Amino acid sequence: MSAVGVVAAAGSGSRLGADRPKALVELAGRPLVAWAVETLLAGGVDEVVVTVPAAERAGFAAALPGRVRLVEGGATRTASVRAGLAAAGPGADVVLVHDAARPLTPPDVVARVLAALAAGAPAVVPVLPVVDTTVVVDDGGLVTDAVPRARLRRVQTPQGFHRATLVAAYAGLAEGVELTDDAAVVRAAGVPVATVEGDERAAKVTVPHDLHLAGLLVAR
Ligand code: CTP
Ligand code: MG
Repeated sequence: MSAVGVVAAAGSGSRLGADRPKALVELAGRPLVAWAVETLLAGGVDEVVVTVPAAERAGFAAALPGRVRLVEGGATRTASVRAGLAAAGPGADVVLVHDAARPLTPPDVVARVLAALAAGAPAVVPVLPVVDTTVVVDDGGLVTDAVPRARLRRVQTPQGFHRATLVAAYAGLAEGVELTDDAAVVRAAGVPVATVEGDERAAKVTVPHDLHLAGLLVAR
């Protein structure tokens, strides 16, 4: 089973507010995107395509091994993954779509996703339980309901798919429809999405506090 990784790295990182695209922000001296690519390769992916902001190709080329292919991303994550998937080519059996913004994802998570695909799942996502009491509020911020959380999960990346399944699902998604992850795209096409255990270290770097925490983790 051959696997290609598509790394979504074309965002600006507006909530992080750094002086460069988020994927090029450094953690322990290495850009976030380099961490993400290394995790995919260490976990068993054979080749990697990275979607980059159009104006930043040189910075990404300098940050990544020569074997990594760079393609121009789009204005939204959905558009970027579409571009990465088109560039990934028909050779691979499975595709793992990963966020550059999850630098400390352990290779074990990648391996679990690949194992589920090899066992026959057409789509698989790493998940973690919701540990906090979770409530619904009204427009005024008053709590109106508590949500039973036993069956709630937080979804991470990399998310894995049989390549043809993901390509068909994106082809069937109307242009301009934006979904926050790739599992939502295949679910919209009626494909069942399996789960494997995620990892707290796969947390997404979104705001400065997340980068601070990641820095503490790598310093240990
Ligand atoms: N992404 C992408 N193309 C976009 C937008 C996002 O490839 N047009 C990627 C980001 O680079 C990131 C991942 O999708 O690795 C998850 O998105 P998010 O954490 O929202 O990153 P940004 O969109 O860059 O951040 P923000 O929303 O704060 O601007
Ligand atoms: Mg975003």
